[in-house]
Amino acid sequence: MYLNIQNVTKEFDKFEAVKNFSLEVKEGELISLLGPSGCGKTTMLRMIGGFLNPSKGFIYLENKDITKTPPEKRPVSTVFQNYALFPHLNVLENVLYGLKNKKILSKKAMLEKAIKMLDIVGMTEYKSRSVSELSGGQQQRVALARSLVLGPKVLLMDEPLSNLDAKLRVKMREEIKKIQRELKITMIFVTHDQEEAISISDKIVVMNEGKVIQIGAPKEIYEKPENIFVANFIGRANTLIIKGEKIIVRPENVQLSFQEKSYKGEIIEKNYLGFFTTYGIKSFFDEKEHIIYSDLLGSENEFEIKDEVFFDFKSIHYL
Ligand SMILES: Nc1ncnc2c1ncn2[C@@H]1O[C@H](COP(=O)(O)OP(=O)(O)OP(=O)(O)O)[C@@H](O)[C@H]1O
Ligand SMILES: [Mg+2]
Repeated sequence: MYLNIQNVTKEFDKFEAVKNFSLEVKEGELISLLGPSGCGKTTMLRMIGGFLNPSKGFIYLENKDITKTPPEKRPVSTVFQNYALFPHLNVLENVLYGLKNKKILSKKAMLEKAIKMLDIVGMTEYKSRSVSELSGGQQQRVALARSLVLGPKVLLMDEPLSNLDAKLRVKMREEIKKIQRELKITMIFVTHDQEEAISISDKIVVMNEGKVIQIGAPKEIYEKPENIFVANFIGRANTLIIKGEKIIVRPENVQLSFQEKSYKGEIIEKNYLGFFTTYGIKSFFDEKEHIIYSDLLGSENEFEIKDEVFFDFKSIHYL
């Protein structure tokens, strides 16, 4: 295994911020750590980066134990949330900085490498600009180039897009994914945004209260959540007991109709959201009243509050 994290625990005094965390990462994979605020994502990332020592457990990179290797000695690079660029240096100088410290390349080779990386992140034309004159997205690109130019074996990113506005976040995450694929770089990406995790990851690690709850490909996590926490953290879910079995149904899998179907209910909520509409349907399951949510595409929103409707489940996941 390329990167192997084994039973890592981090205690701060008596408080366990990360509990028995294990993860295997293949070379070239993009892994997201996803979970609510305070669940231990940053703590885990800082242990991979070497900025914190695990209280228990081991971290191996290409079969070498790096658990206690200091950050500057491990081939791991981190892009921080606030980018941490050097304000007194221009764009090119920022990217060159780490290379100069390493002192292994000639001046010409360093310059070529830095320019190539600026080209990859689309910042060549800004190379002489002061970083304080850049927009958030541009600073993000420089921070990425500065980390990538060092050729790390693993690139760590802690909520790198959280300072950007919604549109730019989507654009940057697509770019990061593209660059990651092109360079085949192994990356661990921290986010608490489920859509972000789903869209860019090969695998998602869902965490809660310091523990790994589920590891899987985005589709697996979404379609086959292991428990209600995962089902509700990633997307929305109707949770029901039918014939003694606990199930979840995603709202987009609840099909409504005026014609007779398996279940019956009354529409009590309607929320028009543009490309889809969310309905709340009052219905009885297991002799209890439930509100079942159904998401229908914008073109199918002919149902109104107080309508008696029938519905079926297009797909069910058993817990
Ligand atoms: N140096 C520290 N000393 C004591 N407790 C800490 C320390 N660093 C983190 N913690 C605690 O460990 C827990 C996990 O923190 P962490 O920063 O890893 O969470 P996170 O998942 O990154 O959250 P967020 O999404 O808000 O960034 C929190 O309860 C936090 O208060
Ligand atoms: Mg954090």
